[in-house]
Amino acid sequence: MIRDVLKMGDPRLLRVARPVTDFGSPQLRALIDDLFDTMAARDGAGIAAPQIGIDLRVVIFGIASHPNYPDADAVPQTVLINPVIEALSPHEEEGWEGCLSVPGMRGWVPRFSHIRYRGYDANGQSIDRTASDFHARVVQHECDHLDGILYPRRIRDLTRFGFTEVLFPGRTLSDD
Ligand code: NI
Repeated sequence: MIRDVLKMGDPRLLRVARPVTDFGSPQLRALIDDLFDTMAARDGAGIAAPQIGIDLRVVIFGIASHPNYPDADAVPQTVLINPVIEALSPHEEEGWEGCLSVPGMRGWVPRFSHIRYRGYDANGQSIDRTASDFHARVVQHECDHLDGILYPRRIRDLTRFGFTEVLFPGRTLSDD
């Protein structure tokens, strides 16, 4: 089911979400289905449970190809539960981000360019991957939602935060 996405300003986006303890439950499956439906309906690259008002450490992401990021490599379709991220080097890269909870805007955000991330899939099977560049960016953005952090808080140069239609005139970019 497609769910409403909470927008910045809603206090539910600022919570530190609770870990999942009940893997394989029908409620968890329904949540994941709703996240996929909502992400697809909005052309998102990823979405986190708190964005639909669910206080659990669940994110999904994945991009075969995305018009907002024509140069980015594909990111595998992933359900990631109770994630832990570790930077593999202090090196950061800045890039444009948008968010379904910050509609109509984009910002220039620094992220670690090489990470390891661990967590669990919907069945409780462990996931342990390394990622770089765009894949690493998406994971860091989505997992930030689980700690109540929206990307504008990560922007260092606020002159590079603005309305999509002004920053990128003539391009149609979804909020992702
Ligand atoms: Ni987001």
